[in-house]
Amino acid sequence: MLISGFPRLVVLALAGTALSQKPVTSLVSRRLTEYVLPVTTETHELARVPGTDFVLLSQMSNSQLVKIQLDAASEAPIAYQAFPMGKNNQSGLHGVWPSKKHPGMMWLSLQWENKLLLVDPGTDDLSTPPTIIQTIDIPEPGNGPHCVFEIGDYVWAGLKVASKQTSSFYVFSASLSNTSDTTLYPCLNSPVFIAQDPATKLVYATQDASSSIMRINTTDHSTSQLPIPPSVGVNPVGLTNALGGGLWFTLAGNATGGTGTFGRINPAKNTLTFLQLKSPLLGTNAGLLHLADAASPPGDPAPALWLLSTSLLSNASADALIRVTLDADLENIVGEEYISIPTQNAMTHRVLTLDKTVMVSELHTFTLAQLAYNNTVAGEWLPAEAASNATVYDEAG
Ligand SMILES: *[C@@H]1O[C@H](CO)[C@@H](O)[C@H](O)[C@H]1NC(C)=O
Ligand SMILES: *[C@@H]1O[C@H](CO)[C@@H](O)[C@H](O)[C@H]1NC(C)=O
Ligand SMILES: *[C@@H]1O[C@H](CO)[C@@H](O)[C@H](O)[C@H]1NC(C)=O
Ligand SMILES: *[C@@H]1O[C@H](CO)[C@@H](O)[C@H](O)[C@H]1NC(C)=O
Ligand SMILES: *[C@@H]1O[C@H](CO)[C@@H](O)[C@H](O)[C@H]1NC(C)=O
Ligand SMILES: *[C@@H]1O[C@H](CO)[C@@H](O)[C@H](O)[C@H]1NC(C)=O
Ligand SMILES: *[C@@H]1O[C@H](CO)[C@@H](O)[C@H](O)[C@H]1NC(C)=O
Repeated sequence: MLISGFPRLVVLALAGTALSQKPVTSLVSRRLTEYVLPVTTETHELARVPGTDFVLLSQMSNSQLVKIQLDAASEAPIAYQAFPMGKNNQSGLHGVWPSKKHPGMMWLSLQWENKLLLVDPGTDDLSTPPTIIQTIDIPEPGNGPHCVFEIGDYVWAGLKVASKQTSSFYVFSASLSNTSDTTLYPCLNSPVFIAQDPATKLVYATQDASSSIMRINTTDHSTSQLPIPPSVGVNPVGLTNALGGGLWFTLAGNATGGTGTFGRINPAKNTLTFLQLKSPLLGTNAGLLHLADAASPPGDPAPALWLLSTSLLSNASADALIRVTLDADLENIVGEEYISIPTQNAMTHRVLTLDKTVMVSELHTFTLAQLAYNNTVAGEWLPAEAASNATVYDEAG
């Protein structure tokens, strides 16, 4: 009896000490919740239907579009309904992107059917099936639209599969005013993300396996390559316009892991610059698959990015969201915050920022993680009188 009672007394004494002192450093909470989606092997892209409480998410392995309803106040997912897209479960639904030209409509890609779809997601009700407004067939020799984007007056797609006719890869674009007016830009193996620099109007495409970024002048259709120096890392994937300073991209690494490296394209100078995470624990080996602009929390105007580290290519790289803060010149990292995804080996895939939360799709575990990035000071999530209640307990019961 004495032996078992003794350690219990020690624990209680420590608890009493902790409760009777004011904290020196407040802990901040980062609340991550994982939501279980329909069971399948590949959960990919996600986008919000602008101005609504609906997020569309693609499951490629069975070609299902998951329509997710969010709680308007908290943005927490509350219900979903999945809809088959394409002629069968092998149609390869992949890309999801909002249209600005057709407000309320969404672009989808069917990689294995070689088609782009413009759909009305049916945001009057969760159970309303998406209706197809327009279908764009990718012309030969193009093959395999992966991610889809609407940029200005064009819809774009990276054609991820080698052409049956030429064995080459292409970036596809079609004019929105005449979708028969299409262009195939020959590129390297193989195009993933496409984004435009607002100042020069130049369009860029990451090409993962060739470790190079293609630059496209849409006026004269000329293209050129910006290769990634192997010394900094390999495999550019995520690419986005961010922080009002050029385009930013991430390097996903390879089977031996990543290098924690992301970079910036300076379109005016036609140069690439690279930044590397410093933390030896989750940073320097991170394979960075995707990224997003991280809206600064109030009172912190520093420019910041969300980087998504993934175990997709190597389990030497963790599944984590990393918030990097940059200096005003966007040249140096001044802060790194690591938020591990609860389920590891989840092969985290894409990061999507909503108004006050951040979502992450987990490819391998049919899961959607949501981060409430809210600087709640430790103790202050309790009602005020409970937080200031200095009662010291003397019993564990
Ligand atoms: C696709 O559908 C076929 C026929 O209904 C079924 O046998 C197969 O299991 C399905 N595959 C997937 C990945 O859903
Ligand atoms: C649309 O583009 C196609 C291909 O360039 C062209 O043949 C057709 O005349 C165009 N249609 C209109 C209405 O301009
Ligand atoms: C794109 O090409 C056009 C036509 O050759 C040229 O006038 C323009 O300067 C080019 N744009 C850029 C940003 O290089
Ligand atoms: C992985 O990438 C690194 C550069 O980051 C390179 O040194 C290494 O050879 C690559 N490994 C494989 C298996 O391609
Ligand atoms: C990755 O995970 C698998 C399964 O847990 C394990 O067998 C393998 O050794 C791991 N590889 C690395 C590089 O950690
Ligand atoms: C953060 O949490 C506080 C307290 O629960 C809440 O009042 C506030 O609305 C939250 N802010 C965001 C951005 O969610
Ligand atoms: C403080 O907490 C104790 C233990 O739960 C409770 O009995 C007491 O009523 C609380 N006091 C106040 C002011 O809430």
